[in-house]
Amino acid sequence: MLETMQAKVRSVFWQEGQVMLVDQRLLPGRFVVAGFDTVEKVAAAIRDMVVRGAPAIGATGAYGMALAAFASPASDRASLLNDLRRAKAVLDAARPTAVNLSWATARMLELAEHTVLPNTDELRHALLAEADAIAEEDVAINRRIGFYGAALIADGANLLHHCNTGALATVDFGTALGVIYACAEQGKRIHVWVDETRPRLQGARLTAWELMRAGIPMHLIADNAAGHLMRTGQVDAVLFGADRVAANGDVANKIGTYKLAVVARENNIPVYAAVPTSTIDLNLADGDQIPIEERGAEEVTTIDGAVIAPAGVPVYNPAFDVTPHRYLTAIITEEGVCYPPFDASLRRAKAAAEARVQENRLQRGKQTMARG
Ligand code: MRU
Repeated sequence: MLETMQAKVRSVFWQEGQVMLVDQRLLPGRFVVAGFDTVEKVAAAIRDMVVRGAPAIGATGAYGMALAAFASPASDRASLLNDLRRAKAVLDAARPTAVNLSWATARMLELAEHTVLPNTDELRHALLAEADAIAEEDVAINRRIGFYGAALIADGANLLHHCNTGALATVDFGTALGVIYACAEQGKRIHVWVDETRPRLQGARLTAWELMRAGIPMHLIADNAAGHLMRTGQVDAVLFGADRVAANGDVANKIGTYKLAVVARENNIPVYAAVPTSTIDLNLADGDQIPIEERGAEEVTTIDGAVIAPAGVPVYNPAFDVTPHRYLTAIITEEGVCYPPFDASLRRAKAAAEARVQENRLQRGKQTMARG
């Protein structure tokens, strides 16, 4: 078994009425788990990137909703629902691009709206159980993404990876990095080129940290080295995650992904996005509809607090870009590998996943009834 976060602690979990998060801003220097006990603090932790990565943000949002339920003084169902709707608005506003956040808070709200329980306390506990289920499902989903994705990667492959999509970016294991972990578990001799991923350096700080802990051969590269490596035959596949996938397969991911995909196409290198189906947003027809988050100037003008640009320089800092679907070889999901035409294959994957969630919910209900 590889040493992922599993052996230690998950990136997101619930403990004694608090949402616990590995503070990803402090890695690789310090491994600190901090507790957040109000919806506003949880939203701020998402906004400030204490927790980041679309699936991890989703699970955090779900626990934020559970927190809101326990914090609410409501003694009737209607008032509790109102407090939950308010909490959802606060949490969803924290980061706009990753659809997993509003997907998870919507799933929590939907449960509250549709579950008939005798009193509000039972509803509170049902909501916490649902948040736990979202977290548990995320780990299982990543394992399945890893299984399907690893089948696409040959023994001896050199993989180029962008941002951080591993145990830190999810509840555990990871999506694109999950594929890499699954390859390693199967004994495939892979090597990973780790994009540093300016401006927040998720590759240098987090992916390098995860891969070194897992003992997977890698080299950290400056983002600008990727094109050279691809043109000189040193990359066999490009692998990344996503924050939102539109119905036609256009993918929003960490800024710089588009450039990688275009250069990969120029060099006949396959490009894979690895995503849970919760990242697929069938409500948006194409990538132009995806909201792109803009973040503060200091992310570009500083590195680790050190100023690297003239004071007052005008800065534009989009945190994500959209890769049009024509540059993608396939999108790997927990329901299998989706190939073009993506409109049809993504719709099938999403439907299969929704059926699985309903089935899991039914099974949990039966177990609860059997217990008493
Ligand atoms: O700004 P971040 O660090 O939250 O961006 C994260 C990414 O872009 C990841 O690639 C994406 O969320 C997928 S994580 C499994």
